[in-house]
Amino acid sequence: MNKPLSGKTAIVTGSSSGIGYATASTLAQAGAAVVIHARRKDRLDELASEIAAQGGKVLAVGGDASIQVDIDVLVDRALSWDEGGCKVDIVVVNAGRGLAGGILDSEESLWPEIYQVNVLGAAHLMRRAGQYMVQRKSGDIVVIGSVVGRNISPFSGFYGSSKSAICAIAEGLRREVCTHKVRVSLVMPGIVLSGFQNVAGYDEENFGKGIAQFGKMLEPQAIADGIFWLLTLPPHVNVNEITIRPTGQSYP
Ligand SMILES: NC(=O)c1ccc[n+]([C@@H]2O[C@H](COP(=O)([O-])OP(=O)(O)OC[C@H]3O[C@@H](n4cnc5c(N)ncnc54)[C@H](OP(=O)(O)O)[C@@H]3O)[C@@H](O)[C@H]2O)c1
Repeated sequence: MNKPLSGKTAIVTGSSSGIGYATASTLAQAGAAVVIHARRKDRLDELASEIAAQGGKVLAVGGDASIQVDIDVLVDRALSWDEGGCKVDIVVVNAGRGLAGGILDSEESLWPEIYQVNVLGAAHLMRRAGQYMVQRKSGDIVVIGSVVGRNISPFSGFYGSSKSAICAIAEGLRREVCTHKVRVSLVMPGIVLSGFQNVAGYDEENFGKGIAQFGKMLEPQAIADGIFWLLTLPPHVNVNEITIRPTGQSYP
């Protein structure tokens, strides 16, 4: 049976957990051959087994999304993967991490790592994908930003600045590639319960109490569903940006 993404090959970074895991799984169910990427290879292997058990095509590539050489290896492996047709149609630039606290009180020793993965690594992957897709005259680049990239909050100011930068880079890239039939879509999630909170250093005191009035938080699947929707629109329709929040999240 023909599925909506049959014949497409997608790279999804940060697919060992949360939004990336749900997205890779959703795109595979929709018929795409998926190339999954993260540092925790054991978790990628679990996801690869799940996808393969459902009859999907999957290639797991372990690596660090903040290191240029690893990103180049990822793209090169995808482009030489026979089962995926030695091509890439979709790149979901998702790998990233948060950091609890504002400019005054976040852990400054982690600032370089935040920019290395959320901005520089992401931008390198966007550049590789953009250069390749412009030549092919087709493709989709989906970039995961954040509501705190648009609404800088005093609770996550440094992390928010990294997402603000990637929002700007996504729009710059869109303007460069759109006349070559390449779509760039920025997805800005609100609060999604995932591995994110633990990695960022959020706990009941600095997070749980603040969001208690927002009601039910999002699951990663809500973001995966949004990504699936924008990828399956007609090729001449590019949803440039979407914000997906829990209904009760008033700010940010
Ligand atoms: N959760 C939220 O509330 C929220 C809101 C707005 C935006 N976002 C954004 O959504 C994206 C996904 O986050 P999530 O909520 O799904 O968090 P998550 O569950 O912690 O997943 C993060 C993923 O990124 C990968 N990753 C992180 N650093 C990496 C590195 N240096 N190299 C390779 N992979 C790396 C992790 O894999 P390994 O650790 O195995 O490498 C993991 O697969 C991030 O860009 C985040 O900033 C999240």
